[in-house]
Amino acid sequence: MSSSIQIAVVGSGYVGLVAAVCFAEMGHQVICVDNDERKVTALRAGETLIHEEFLPELLGRYRNERIRFMTDLAEATRESDAIFIAVGTPQSETGDADLSYVEAVACEIARSLNKYTVIVEKSTVPVYTNEWIRRAMERNGVPRNLFDVVSNPEFLREGTAVADFLHPDRIVVGADSERAAAILGKIYAPLTEGSYYKTSDAIPGMCNETAVPQLLFTSTKSAEIIKHASNAFLALKISFINAVSNLCEATDANVQQVAHGMGLDSRIGPKFLRPGIGYGGSCFPKDVAAFRSVADQLGVDFSLLTEVEKINANQKVRFVRKVRAALWTLRGKRLGVLGLAFKGETDDIRDSPAIELVEMLMAEGCSIVAFDPAAMERAAQVIPSGPQMTYAKDAYEAAADTDALLILTDWAEFKHLDLARLNSSMRYSILIDGRNMFDPAVMASHNFTYVSVGRPTSY
Ligand code: UGA
Repeated sequence: MSSSIQIAVVGSGYVGLVAAVCFAEMGHQVICVDNDERKVTALRAGETLIHEEFLPELLGRYRNERIRFMTDLAEATRESDAIFIAVGTPQSETGDADLSYVEAVACEIARSLNKYTVIVEKSTVPVYTNEWIRRAMERNGVPRNLFDVVSNPEFLREGTAVADFLHPDRIVVGADSERAAAILGKIYAPLTEGSYYKTSDAIPGMCNETAVPQLLFTSTKSAEIIKHASNAFLALKISFINAVSNLCEATDANVQQVAHGMGLDSRIGPKFLRPGIGYGGSCFPKDVAAFRSVADQLGVDFSLLTEVEKINANQKVRFVRKVRAALWTLRGKRLGVLGLAFKGETDDIRDSPAIELVEMLMAEGCSIVAFDPAAMERAAQVIPSGPQMTYAKDAYEAAADTDALLILTDWAEFKHLDLARLNSSMRYSILIDGRNMFDPAVMASHNFTYVSVGRPTSY
């Protein structure tokens, strides 16, 4: 394995924690810094705090050895050759990314820096952030020859974050200095030179892909834009197929066949063409808004992104209409809901379209019995149990005695539900599937009225 580098990762959220444990897995010495004492204590004890496959195994392997957790950024700065900033960049009221956490971290690093160090932006940030970090360092008295700022955006998805980090399609390094680029090249060498794939102790069940990712060097601004443009493009692809699904509903065509036919064209590709109830999560909604705001501020017309957002919001309104169309009226109806997380295999409910839909249906006077395999604890903090909201212990309890069952999150395990058992306990056999998880013919054979997205309803 290539030589080990001393790395600090600031922020132990999704991106920071996954990056930290994966850098350790790649052979580096890592300090993960968070200003939340409780988080640091939990991480030291081996609790990952987020539901993410393979994270507990990796944390268990390296905790207190290759990876340490602390609150002291000054100490981490003095000990490290590269510092990755992976703190939150939440959406402000105007749609801009709020960069105050990034600025605070940059200023704190500046106060403790005592030798050449590469500062790496890992958080999703708008173009020009790199320059602002550089300015913040200089304003805080750090000589220009003591640091470089590099943009190294992360493309991992929640639910498959560890595998995405260790088996990326590409690694983008935006660096305007050769010295900094060389250090980033060394950090990622175990992946880009392939030694990691040959020598690592495989984690059972993890992707055994050995393809070496491409290392792409760009300017810092290009790297910043690559991240925003990639997320905005994926969101656009989803809104596009959602709009096509609406056209299919209007014509009795089948969006699954259409997406398959489109995706066979290698220029289009089959991924991210699944229609549904709209994209959600902590990234796409925020990043599309931030990218649009960047364009606005630079006087660039990118109103295409406004349309992407409009289609996304409308997809939820259309879903409520579908529920109404299936049930005639909504007030007083009892609905079973399967899934509250923003997508399957995660407990994350940030900007979850499922949560938004539950709120919309409650506002229409429905009562909800919901089940999610991992997200109910978080959901209960946003929508507490009450006369209109009940949390069920499993999918069958959620379906029992309901007027209709709705699928709002694409948890893989929902595919294996016993349909006959579900059906037998419901008041009416109506299943409204916002994620196209089932084959309409199979649903018809189980006597369900089955409403999905962009496909003819089966009875
Ligand atoms: C997304 C990107 O996929 C990552 O590449 C990126 O690194 C990450 O944001 C980030 O910026 O941190 P993530 O938000 O974890 O990852 O989730 P996705 O799997 O991309 O799904 C986002 C939303 O789109 C979900 O609500 C999902 O259900 C929806 N989706 C996805 C669809 O409705 N249709 C699809 O075909 C694909």
